[in-house]
Amino acid sequence: MPPLTVCLLTSEMMPFAKTGGLADVAGALALELAQRGADARAFMPLYGSVLQGPWKFAPVPEVQDVAIELGATKYAFSLLTSNLPGSKTRAWFIDCPKFFRRASLYTNDPDEYRRFVFFTRAVIESCQRLHFAPAIFHCNDWHAALVPLLLRTAYSWDKLFAGSRSVLTIHNIGYQGLMPASAALELDLSPSEPLLDAADLADGIINPLKSGILLADAVTTVSPTYAKEICETPLGMGMEQTLRARADGVTGILNGVDYRLWDPRVDPQLKVHFEPDDLSGKLANKYQVLAAHGLTFVRSRPLIAIVSRLTDQKGFDLLHEALPALLEQRDFNLIVLGSGEARYEKLFADLAVQYAGRVGFRAGYDEALAHLMEAGSDMFLMPSRYEPCGLNQMYSLRYGTIPIVHKTGGLADSVQHFDPASGRGTGCVFNDFDVGAISWAMNTVFDWYANTALWKKLMRNAMAQDFSWGRQVLEYEALYRRLQGIDASKK
Ligand code: ADP
Ligand code: GLC
Repeated sequence: MPPLTVCLLTSEMMPFAKTGGLADVAGALALELAQRGADARAFMPLYGSVLQGPWKFAPVPEVQDVAIELGATKYAFSLLTSNLPGSKTRAWFIDCPKFFRRASLYTNDPDEYRRFVFFTRAVIESCQRLHFAPAIFHCNDWHAALVPLLLRTAYSWDKLFAGSRSVLTIHNIGYQGLMPASAALELDLSPSEPLLDAADLADGIINPLKSGILLADAVTTVSPTYAKEICETPLGMGMEQTLRARADGVTGILNGVDYRLWDPRVDPQLKVHFEPDDLSGKLANKYQVLAAHGLTFVRSRPLIAIVSRLTDQKGFDLLHEALPALLEQRDFNLIVLGSGEARYEKLFADLAVQYAGRVGFRAGYDEALAHLMEAGSDMFLMPSRYEPCGLNQMYSLRYGTIPIVHKTGGLADSVQHFDPASGRGTGCVFNDFDVGAISWAMNTVFDWYANTALWKKLMRNAMAQDFSWGRQVLEYEALYRRLQGIDASKK
């Protein structure tokens, strides 16, 4: 079989830039595909923060100072590459200082949609200049969801892409990238108007994610359960009908874990490693992580961790209600690392004052601390309202850090509720998104923890789970190959 050629478009990618799981997934998928022989080229914007990192970037001579006109304005970009660390696989960067040298990856600036329409076009233009004809354009989230539209309109003249197919992967349907309908003119999308959703245009908006759902050759999301959930109200967030209207539906492919980075045996961020047969290193990490949060070790006290974007999606409103009573009733430590909405930062900052010595909160983003928290904690709390996949619960399992999760999306697909009688299961799963259910779950886990033999059994079960990318990547490959077989005339 000829090697697959894949162009991946992503707004973030490890190790260069990350706000959440998309970065982990994009970096790992590009590497896995390359290791399996594909010519997989992952493109992302060259953010200012990326340039401050330790990586070396080389300009790509064929793609320098390329002009793109968006409406009345002309912009220019250049293409750079750098190796994905530890590999010969290259990552590709769109450099346009005007759009991407800003204080954060994502902004609330009025031209946010323009930044990513530009990114999308710059990737297509780069492929043209590199004479790279990808069999698959793999678009991630709304930021790249206009590729299928552009291939059918602005770039339909280019025979280079005659055999190209598109895959849209939805990592989070809560973000759709809405733009004003005036963007059609402003961004030269006017030729695409017949393909844009007429009702949306009448309402004054263009929805890039919806365009991708309508026009991509395949739509996937990051877990089988979320694939079902987004076809219904409320989790479809307005996209349920559009998704259901696709004859081939939406396929759920669970994310994998990069165990080169997230395994207590080898985790490069840890000073002390451990494995299921010798957990002494886990205790050493517990001492370290407690100290990092200014807390001290008490043998009987379980340690719960949260590492998260502090947004509504992650269920913090529930914790707001449930935690004070739980902290009064039970003796445990809670450590939290996260950044996001001010009200949730305040919630944890206040708890850290009120329950000084028991609750630790670190605001901000800290990759090394995130790993240490996975390694040293006893439990990991993810009460997400919805969770397309979720990576931390899978990381937690590997570290014997028992996940407490709401039964939704990828959490439901990757954690099985533990049954003390049969000894089967890997974590604690609560069904209802309410204070009663989360309080029950936390109390249940504390009771399990108090029984040392039971807890050891549960940890072993968790650590034996395997969510490696090796398996998941086969599903993407199979999808790509299936799409390659689609006759272009039937499109
Ligand atoms: P999401 O992508 O919705 O944020 P995931 O569970 O898929 O959720 O992925 C979150 C990723 O981001 C994990 O790798 C987690 O460790 C990381 N992360 C989130 N917040 C922080 C933070 N404040 N510091 C370090 N890592 C973080
Ligand atoms: C999104 C989702 C998260 C998922 C990640 C990677 O950020 O919120 O559940 O794991 O993308 O696919």
